Amino acid sequence: MQTMTETLQKLIGKPLVESTDQEIYLALLDLVRSKSAAQVRPVNGRKLYYISAEFLIGKLLSNNLINLGLYDDVRDALAAAGKSLSDIEEVEPEPSLGNGGLGRLAACFLDSLATLNLPGDGIGPEVVNEAVGVMEAVGKKFGHTFEFVDVLLGGCATDAVGKSYPDGTTEKCKACDAVLLGAVGGPKWGSDKPAEQRPETALLAIRKDLGLYANLRPAALRPAMADACPLKKETAEKGIDLMMVRELTGGIYFGKRDKYQTEDRGLEATDLMAYSEKEIERIGRRAFELARLRRKKVSSVDKANVLETSRLWRSVMHRLAKEYSDVQYEDVLVDNCAMQLVRDPGQFDVVVTENMFGDILSDEASMVTGSIGLLPSASIGDTAPGLYEPIHGSAPDIAGQDKANPIATILSVAMMFRYSFHRAEEANAIEAAVDAVLAEGWRTPDIAEPGVTPIGTKEMGRLIREHI
Ligand code: IPM
Ligand code: MG
Repeated sequence: MQTMTETLQKLIGKPLVESTDQEIYLALLDLVRSKSAAQVRPVNGRKLYYISAEFLIGKLLSNNLINLGLYDDVRDALAAAGKSLSDIEEVEPEPSLGNGGLGRLAACFLDSLATLNLPGDGIGPEVVNEAVGVMEAVGKKFGHTFEFVDVLLGGCATDAVGKSYPDGTTEKCKACDAVLLGAVGGPKWGSDKPAEQRPETALLAIRKDLGLYANLRPAALRPAMADACPLKKETAEKGIDLMMVRELTGGIYFGKRDKYQTEDRGLEATDLMAYSEKEIERIGRRAFELARLRRKKVSSVDKANVLETSRLWRSVMHRLAKEYSDVQYEDVLVDNCAMQLVRDPGQFDVVVTENMFGDILSDEASMVTGSIGLLPSASIGDTAPGLYEPIHGSAPDIAGQDKANPIATILSVAMMFRYSFHRAEEANAIEAAVDAVLAEGWRTPDIAEPGVTPIGTKEMGRLIREHI
């Protein structure tokens, strides 16, 4: 019988030591899909293919598979087989494989996928509708079936049941493989309303309850959109392709808040920013592991010249940088980062930062690529499901007029295929379809150059489906 190493080398066509993690990962998925190396067990009532513990070799890969969200699936699969993760750790590394890093290796994928849709407010329902259409087109082409569950979240939920985050939402999400969110918010549910009626409360609650501590916001200049870059032509020509990794469940967004009356200064309010080493380390690892799959550079953004949380952040990042010595690392102060993003965004690969800095910098990064209407995001934790949403808001001024750009939501679905379903081919197909439609010159109003007649939301969705 062939060893795992021999089998993989045959599939990739070169020695494993010369292969990238990505190549090994893809070969591994092929192997699992061929079922020859896999067993099928029902887990949570669904079919799950997995590589049995015998195939789980320590030190073959770095943490990448865990990073890609497989960790929990693996644990479930092992539990179903009466084994645990500690069984994997005991497996001896194969000496020929070199230094892979931590390395618990496993791969698995689900047979049918359930997606929970949270269309939300404003343009949310329109863009989610087009994204679901694209998922169905992908399903048809690649032979997947999806089950969609529609749930209210945000202002629409406040109108329906008096709360923006209805009871049971977390459980409904957890029963699915991924969550697709349109957008929430609108002037009708403003900051004068009680917290439980405000759409933003729902957004923070879902992030926290699903443990989605890593928010990935890629800002890339799509080839057909180079003219939309508001920066100098030389800057755009250098290319922009960065991944903002924003910490999403800590910091000032979730710290203690207070508002109280003082004797001599009137009302006073406080928002506490707190970070633990544990929170910093887990987001840091995500950033370094993503960098390994990209151009191997991490820029960690902080305000260590002023803030204690930033000094702790920096010390943890420095420790990780030593561990990931194959990745180039730099510290960038947040004010300098804001400047560098408009001066020379091409210098950045992976940018990792805390929650509020990430909120601000990701909007800035999006504009540099031409339009916020094009940019997707993925929020992931250590356990399924991940949440996928465009980074734009609910745009109530154009809601219901067939004017919204559905591309950011459609590209969020591509991220869903990549990070939650581990299907790079399907993700690539969606991204290629978007690029093809843009290259043909089709534009929604937000990205139409003067003199170009824009098309509507539905037409953009239809064209993209046609290219799948
Ligand atoms: C975002 C948004 C949210 C955030 C708001 C709506 C609470 O701006 O996802 O970037 O600040 O996180
Ligand atoms: Mg924001």
